[in-house]
Amino acid sequence: MKKTILSGSTVTGNLTLGNYIGAINNWTKLQNDYDCLYFLADLHALTVYQDPKILRERCYSFFAQYLALGLDPQKNIIFVQSQVHQHTELSWILSSLTPMGYLNRMTQFKEKAEKHSKNINTALYTYPVLMAADILLYQADLVPVGEDQRQHLELTRDIVGFFENRYGEGILKMPEAYVGKMGARIMSLQDPEKKMSKSDENEKNFVSIIDDAKQIEKKIKGATTDSGTDIKFDPENKAGLSNLMTIYSVLSGKTTEQIEIDYEGKMYGHLKVDLADLVVQTLKPVREKYDDLMKNKDYLDQLMKSGAERAEARAMPTLEKVYKAVGLLR
Ligand code: TYM
Repeated sequence: MKKTILSGSTVTGNLTLGNYIGAINNWTKLQNDYDCLYFLADLHALTVYQDPKILRERCYSFFAQYLALGLDPQKNIIFVQSQVHQHTELSWILSSLTPMGYLNRMTQFKEKAEKHSKNINTALYTYPVLMAADILLYQADLVPVGEDQRQHLELTRDIVGFFENRYGEGILKMPEAYVGKMGARIMSLQDPEKKMSKSDENEKNFVSIIDDAKQIEKKIKGATTDSGTDIKFDPENKAGLSNLMTIYSVLSGKTTEQIEIDYEGKMYGHLKVDLADLVVQTLKPVREKYDDLMKNKDYLDQLMKSGAERAEARAMPTLEKVYKAVGLLR
């Protein structure tokens, strides 16, 4: 029996190099050896106001971005969260088990509440419960995510514990986070103390995976570094440079030690030029495949439909068991 993997991304902005390096790069590697489900978290996107037209278009775009990055719809179940109604149903049950005190601790809620202070809605607050439902519905063993999602995974595990205490074991599986050793937290290009985020208003802070060569070069060459000259991996004292070296390392397969040796006696500018080139070469075929896919929305619709059907078939038995366990009539 293959282990089950589940992960997803919230449908806001466009996927960035951070999403790719921290998560999706691992998803594509895992797809050959595991039973994998990958989805677009469109319901999660609603925690911040979304223009309906843009949201609709963005779902196609994200689906195409997943495929362009190498996720194979034959090997994986790829689907849109809102097309599988069991997510919100399980979420309601799990919210009845989740103490507010636990949600109050979520750092992402605190950050987002500060950023969107005029729209601190209940969904923003209960978002981690829906995320737990996403994971638990499919009895996932492993959840490949970047560092920023680790706390949500811990909460998911706590929720399984609360459920088991009240309703017994063997109904929900205890999942584990799978966080890569390198690149689990790619930083903003202009402000390397901050995480690279796809919803950042300043486009110079991130490289989108569908940026063109010119945009990529400009953003990487304009990345903030320090006033030093030595190319040394030192995230504490050389955050900007170390971030660029991390990206370089993951995309090239070289260790940071090897990169230090390769660039001994060279300037930061040399590394930036080479890194820009590496990113352009990595993302060129992605962009081409993406453009092709976006010309064929019917094909994307077809894949979404079959993905949702396959996901629903997997989700339903869990929801049935949970409904029965909590005492709802079936
Ligand atoms: P999201 O859309 O913010 O990010 C998608 C994935 O990319 C990772 N990531 C990063 N990794 C490294 N460096 C960065 N700068 C960076 N930014 C993002 C994230 O850790 C994530 O793995 N709540 C989730 C979506 C979600 C989900 C789920 C994930 C909803 N339900 C169930 C797993 C399982 C989110 O907003 O990810």
